[in-house]
Amino acid sequence: MQIRIVAISGSLRAGSLNTVLLRAASVIAPTGMSLELYDEIDRLPFFNPDLDGDEVPPAVESFRAELRGAHGLLISSPEYAHGVPGVMKNALDWLVGSTLGEIVDKPVALVNASPIATHAQASLIETLRMMSARVVADVRLTTSLKSKAYDETSLRSEPDVVRALSAAFAALESAISPENEQTA
Ligand SMILES: Cc1cc2nc3c(=O)[nH]c(=O)nc-3n(C[C@H](O)[C@H](O)[C@H](O)COP(=O)(O)O)c2cc1C
Repeated sequence: MQIRIVAISGSLRAGSLNTVLLRAASVIAPTGMSLELYDEIDRLPFFNPDLDGDEVPPAVESFRAELRGAHGLLISSPEYAHGVPGVMKNALDWLVGSTLGEIVDKPVALVNASPIATHAQASLIETLRMMSARVVADVRLTTSLKSKAYDETSLRSEPDVVRALSAAFAALESAISPENEQTA
């Protein structure tokens, strides 16, 4: 069975460490797991329940379809003012009212490029659990990546990165077994 994981970064910054961490993850994902970065959360409109009916904006439908086709999620998000970035929370809000339950019971692994972003990570976990997602990993890097200019190639040879991503992959793999496969 090929495990399909959708990765979402909570940062829109061109040089985002969280995004580059997910790009590195897509390269070192274990055999049997494919990881695709969904990098269009900035195209989602601001969540408005009035727009969340039988028909939803095309960007929302495409986001939901991506998640429906995934066995699990890998999220890496920065912290802004001790909270989850608005763009990340906005994306999650678009999943709450969906009748197709894109995230319900789905394994979600959280990684974080920052060792100190504890408030946002805790808030993200609370929101995901409230949405009935299964948070299977909460892994932060132990050292800051800010001292060097990393790209996805240099990043994936950092032992701390390999450790964190390996823990996330292992948690996703063990949560996604053929018996509880949930792909649409
Ligand atoms: C407006 C703003 C607020 C921030 N607030 C926090 C914060 O409360 N806690 C924290 O740990 N980092 C905070 N940071 C630092 C970012 O989380 C950090 O730079 C992170 O690496 C950004 O992620 P990125 O590299 O993926 O864009 C803040 C950064 C900005 C620009």
